[in-house]
Amino acid sequence: MNPLLLAIRQAMVFSGQLENDVNRLLHVYHCPKTAEHSARVGAEAEKLAAIFGGDKAAARTAGWLHDISAIIPNSERIPSAEKLEIDILPEEAMFPMIIHQKISRAIAQDVFQIRDQTILSAIECHTTLKSHPSQMDLIVFIADKIEWDQPGKPPYLDELLAELEYSLERGAFVYIEYLWNQRNQLKVVHPWLIDAYEYLKPKCMH
Ligand SMILES: [Fe+2]
Ligand SMILES: [Fe+2]
Repeated sequence: MNPLLLAIRQAMVFSGQLENDVNRLLHVYHCPKTAEHSARVGAEAEKLAAIFGGDKAAARTAGWLHDISAIIPNSERIPSAEKLEIDILPEEAMFPMIIHQKISRAIAQDVFQIRDQTILSAIECHTTLKSHPSQMDLIVFIADKIEWDQPGKPPYLDELLAELEYSLERGAFVYIEYLWNQRNQLKVVHPWLIDAYEYLKPKCMH
């Protein structure tokens, strides 16, 4: 195992019960808010999977793990990504926060032994989405936006929930468009977000 991941694995005794282990690991690394957020996203993802006929257990697992890289501080994210041999895009080098989705995938895969590619993919694109998102990608992306990790009610929430009545794509597009409309103020526009916007726009404009 990569030494960085091995150090995480050795930071505590893993019980094998995923939700307990995620919760404990986040507390060991002093991220209690992320632990709460992860539990809420896990529950929301499970709920969306039930509504849309997806894999409820897998959605819940992806939700619990999506922000597990919070244990790595922002200032260490690019060096950590290099150590993990993660492909770092120029936009991620400029704004390291957005590489946390790829680092979460690596931790889920190697520390938590997740082998289900649909779970790993959904974790990896939960911030930006991507072109041709799977149902699981959409479920975890939307669950994270419904249960956002900032104070107050998300400004896009009512519209997102209304569009979700039609489809996961239309729900996801509300948030993508919300970001798109402020893209000139964003520190960077991730290429996967552009891909997601261009893929979803013709399907969701009405
Ligand atoms: Fe995140
Ligand atoms: Fe999140």
